[in-house]
Amino acid sequence: MARRLGLAIAALILMAAAPSWDWRSPAGLRPSRVPSGNPMSAAKVELGRRLFYDADLSVDGTMACATCHEQHRAFADGNAAHAGVHGDPGRRNVPGLANVAWLRPLTWGDPRIGSLEAQAAIPVTGTAPVEMGMAGQDAEIARRLSTDSCYPAMFAKAFPGDGTIDFEHVAKALAAFERTLVSFDTAYDANGRGGRTAMPSEAVAGSAVFDRHCRSCHSGPLLTDQKFHRIRSTPGPDAGLGEITRRTEDVGRFRTPSLRNVELTGPYFHDGSAKTIADAVRLHPRTSDLRDAQVMQIVAFLNSLTDRHFTMDARFSLPEFTCGK
Ligand code: HEC
Ligand code: HEC
Repeated sequence: MARRLGLAIAALILMAAAPSWDWRSPAGLRPSRVPSGNPMSAAKVELGRRLFYDADLSVDGTMACATCHEQHRAFADGNAAHAGVHGDPGRRNVPGLANVAWLRPLTWGDPRIGSLEAQAAIPVTGTAPVEMGMAGQDAEIARRLSTDSCYPAMFAKAFPGDGTIDFEHVAKALAAFERTLVSFDTAYDANGRGGRTAMPSEAVAGSAVFDRHCRSCHSGPLLTDQKFHRIRSTPGPDAGLGEITRRTEDVGRFRTPSLRNVELTGPYFHDGSAKTIADAVRLHPRTSDLRDAQVMQIVAFLNSLTDRHFTMDARFSLPEFTCGK
């Protein structure tokens, strides 16, 4: 009896340690990784959301994550690149953040960045380029957030038992919020669920062309194989994967971007050099045999990957209640 009770309690503790989280994603799709040290919770997500919109994470208080990652553009920003707080020109195009929980590795060309927790330090403390300009300023971040009227209670709720206000917790909360940026509510997905009329006929035609010419790399529910490819015959100044691996065959290789919400995330490519989706398509190799009409069909198909519920979802916007719920 005592043993059975012990087992029951152990099971309860396990359940408490790994609370189930509703990912609101298509059946069978699980995020690539949620670190065991950073389980999801509503309080943590709410904290991460407030931090995502907080310019106090930048040295002069002018730049938040949301400055470059704007919800109405599926968390991209509409520029080829975005300068940092000191005017350092951005090196790369700002990617959208839809479904980042499923992406690994992160960023355009760095296979070492395996978690959102690790990624968060790059914009805040990175120096090449300087984005938010807080390198070596961990104590200042803790000081600023501690003197705020909301954060102490929010950190305590998000990290029960150790509500320390430090950058490790900031990164964990940001990562938890980013994992909620789930976007699968599109005409394309409705079609997949059997709603055959959800996509216009032009897009249905484009889907077939896309399957033949593009699916090998833009594969799966996210429309990316998450692998590195070179698609431009003449590499630009950015070596991409080659910069990290130092191998000549990797020069100019970048991670295949997800095409979800691609209508909203232009301009395109790692350097923002393609203004329109059609330009981006045409800059791929072996597309010269595609007729213009087929490219337009592909564009119609890609537009069916736009999720307006995602860009309007109040859970992802600048928090209304400054201290969380
Ligand atoms: C100055 C503009 C800017 C700011 C501010 C900024 N980012 Fe980014 N973000 C970028 C750029 C540019 C990239 C692509 C970098 C690369 O590939 O080298 C990126 C990439 C990312 C990625 C990887 C996405 C993917 O598809 O792999 C995540 C996640 C991310 N940012 C989250 C954040 C968070 C969280 C913050 C705030 C702490 C933030 N960003 C602040 C410009 C910005
Ligand atoms: C060999 C793999 C591969 C194939 C095949 C491929 N792509 Fe890509 N695609 C990529 C990579 C890699 C990038 C990013 C390149 C860069 O930034 O330099 C990309 C970028 C894009 C972009 C820009 C997205 C953004 O957010 O910047 C679009 C749009 C796109 N591809 C559509 C297509 C279409 C349509 C086809 C079929 C005609 C296609 N791709 C075939 C690998 C591929």
